[in-house]
Amino acid sequence: MAFDFEKILIEKHTIEKRVIELGKKISSDYTDKELLVICILKGSILFFADLIRSLSIPVKIDFIKASSYGTRTSTSGEVKVNDLLSEKIKGQSVLLVEDIVDSGFTIKRILDFFMEQGAADVRVCTLLDKPDRRATDIKPDYSGFTIPDEFVVGYGMDFDQKYRNLPYIAVLKETEK
Ligand code: IMP
Ligand code: MG
Repeated sequence: MAFDFEKILIEKHTIEKRVIELGKKISSDYTDKELLVICILKGSILFFADLIRSLSIPVKIDFIKASSYGTRTSTSGEVKVNDLLSEKIKGQSVLLVEDIVDSGFTIKRILDFFMEQGAADVRVCTLLDKPDRRATDIKPDYSGFTIPDEFVVGYGMDFDQKYRNLPYIAVLKETEK
């Protein structure tokens, strides 16, 4: 089956360039701190893998899973955190790596979870920011690209669990949804 996209929104080489820039910035911001970088499964897996390879500081990594309930293309606000963590959180500087911040409910729930666990400092790095749909007071500390209110897939992001393996970010055709 061929992919049927409306358009490619962000090309592979554009993502690669931006991830390197983010890695440099994060490395310089955390030179004197021990950092724990969290991959929020499943969507941020590709971004996370590229981002940690662009860091020039030693870091620890860990994983967490979040699921939200809602329609097929938007969140209801009810977010469940499924804790897979094995690293100690108390007193840690934590960087949450997310694929996309939309309403902000998911990342806010995860941020609160890490604060409750006693993290010293929690920041958010998102590949994509969709500020038009924000329903919380979340502002990512690091953001790759600001995008309009369109449903995107690829580079980790899915529609019905498909398209995560694409190396670029695309907008789906209405007929595909
Ligand atoms: P929020 O809780 O509304 O901020 O939604 C965040 C989560 O919804 C992200 O972690 C994604 O998994 C998913 N999401 C939001 N927008 C998109 C999109 O355009 N494509 C794919 N997934 C999305
Ligand atoms: Mg996600």
